[in-house]
Amino acid sequence: MPDAIQWVKKDPNKEDVFWPTAELKQRTWVSDEAIYDQANADPEAFWAKHAEDLHWFKKWDKTYEFAPQAYKWFIGGKTNLSYNSLDRHIEAGKGDNIALIWEPEPIKEEAVKLTYKQLHERVCKFANALKDLGVKKGDAVGIYLPMIPEAVIAMQACVRIGAPHSVVFSAFSSESLRDRMVDCGAKVIITADGYYRRGKPINLKKSADAGVEDSPVKKVVVVKRTGAEVPMTEGRDVWYQDVVANASSDCPAEQMDSEDLSFLLYTSGTTGKPKGIMHTTGGYAVQAYATAKWNFDMHEGDVFWCTADVGWITGHTYINYGPLMNGATTLVYEGSPDTPDTGRFWAIVEKHKVTQLYTAPTAIRMFIKWGDEWPAKYDLTSLRLLGTVGEPINVDAWMWYFNVVGGGRCPIIDTWWQTETGANMVNNLPGIGPFIPAIAGRPFPGVLGDILDSGGTPLGPNEGGYLAIFSPFPPALTRGIYGDMDRFKAQYFAEYGPERYFTSDGARRDEAGNIRITGRVDDVMNVAGHRLATAEVESALAQNDKVSEVAVVSRPHGLKGEVPVAFVLLRGGIEPSDDIRKELMATVNQVIGPTGRPDQIVFAHDVPKTRSGKIMRRVLKALVRNEPVGDLTTLQNPESVDQLKELVRHQE
Ligand code: WT7
Repeated sequence: MPDAIQWVKKDPNKEDVFWPTAELKQRTWVSDEAIYDQANADPEAFWAKHAEDLHWFKKWDKTYEFAPQAYKWFIGGKTNLSYNSLDRHIEAGKGDNIALIWEPEPIKEEAVKLTYKQLHERVCKFANALKDLGVKKGDAVGIYLPMIPEAVIAMQACVRIGAPHSVVFSAFSSESLRDRMVDCGAKVIITADGYYRRGKPINLKKSADAGVEDSPVKKVVVVKRTGAEVPMTEGRDVWYQDVVANASSDCPAEQMDSEDLSFLLYTSGTTGKPKGIMHTTGGYAVQAYATAKWNFDMHEGDVFWCTADVGWITGHTYINYGPLMNGATTLVYEGSPDTPDTGRFWAIVEKHKVTQLYTAPTAIRMFIKWGDEWPAKYDLTSLRLLGTVGEPINVDAWMWYFNVVGGGRCPIIDTWWQTETGANMVNNLPGIGPFIPAIAGRPFPGVLGDILDSGGTPLGPNEGGYLAIFSPFPPALTRGIYGDMDRFKAQYFAEYGPERYFTSDGARRDEAGNIRITGRVDDVMNVAGHRLATAEVESALAQNDKVSEVAVVSRPHGLKGEVPVAFVLLRGGIEPSDDIRKELMATVNQVIGPTGRPDQIVFAHDVPKTRSGKIMRRVLKALVRNEPVGDLTTLQNPESVDQLKELVRHQE
């Protein structure tokens, strides 16, 4: 194995604390602590400096403006995300650098490499094809694609012409697709015939067809990926390959206002209805660019692999826009980590000489289970830095990632953020550190945040409270929930007022200001890195007419982080059975997709309720976690609790 440089060292005084070495400090973009004080004293100047690296058709007149639920960045500026991702590098003479590597799942297929020029050409052609299909600036476009280059191409084409994209995770059900398309009013969607997953072709067109029924969608563009026979609806469906064939490759990027919508991304809130999180153009571009650069020590020539799906915000910002705006090479892998065997990720790292790997704790725990022999088979010394995201990472997973994957050489950047924040918010920087298992670190420079109690008073070190972000808000922070600004206000600004964004995460920090995220304080779960509201699973189950009442709570899970557990009361006369259990699982599959499937369905006769008839989910949560149930005096049916305790244990 080639020699690899040691990038981190252990703190001689503290067992679990690591610091960057002099080499790492030297090669990273920022290594001086003073950046925090500088940036936080004047966040506007800090972000404006990053903004100057990007291309603006017209420079902004004013950097930041605050109004309740109407804060703005780079006011009056005109820019374009696709121009910044592609044209900017071509103009700088870097058009022959590799922009994207695509690794298909079947090993017999060749990887695809696209230079910046080639990617630019494909994006321009498809952007023109979208225009030919009637898409105009401001029109929402649905993207329901697997992990293929066209996912990145389609997103880039949309933002190039100013049509906000709304990407729906390809494993989501057709109903999820329909709900989102109805909500955003998309008239065009882009999908594929299918994709490979665990060695088998999956038919995506079928879900897309079902999803566009009774929706505003009039045109469906279908990428040919697997070559499966799929029905094409006359007048509605067109092949991607056909529409780009004769399209012109000349498509100047639309001059977008800084505050124009660049995309919508639906995510789970606490109710059953997912919310369309709105992201702008200028502010989003700047923070996506700056965080990708500084957090992941991103340089031209790097091969950056973010293993998330493009259907999540992580994929939007760190597969597509962040790496491309930095002129790096982004790696897109189509398939599953255990195909053809459980060494696939490490084979990919070795094959493409991946320099930074960004993945989720749930994946790391799975790799641990699969055994150290898999990463040991491959040369992973190209890796310089490791990232983690999506949920709090446990100490064991962190240490394993550090030692077994990173060979004890690579800093681990534990990035806390949310769909709403658009880009990384809390994590330590590779050239500054420290890197501490299970601790994300300080807010990114220029991000003002603190831990508050429920009344809004800042807390001292080691006191548990809620993480809040203060104005001037970071430029990528969402500007709202599409079509529901009342919900936007109620969800994020009711707690602490309009100048302090409530994150819904519990947290505490140490004396040095390093923040440990303790997890959501609302009814949102993190299932294998997928965000899901308990209310969504409840409303899915309630669609089955055998169900009379249902309550869903989360339970910690060794691999997945959290899993839903459902308490179901069946309608009179219906007896619980394994068949009904299967049927209920199928209902969830159909309404949400496999991510929503409960880990356990408990058939109950009664669930604990308050005198006013509200289900006490707090008690159910304690029950499934084997924790003390606490005060039951406000219950109308306290006897239900003991019965349920038995049922939870016996209905595994
Ligand atoms: C929720 C947001 C944004 C990327 C993927 C998830 C949890 C995210 C961390 C982390 C602890 C984390 C929070 C947050 N979360 N990253 N590094 N440490 N918790 O985006 O689906 O919008 O979920 O994920 O609870 O609120 P999302």
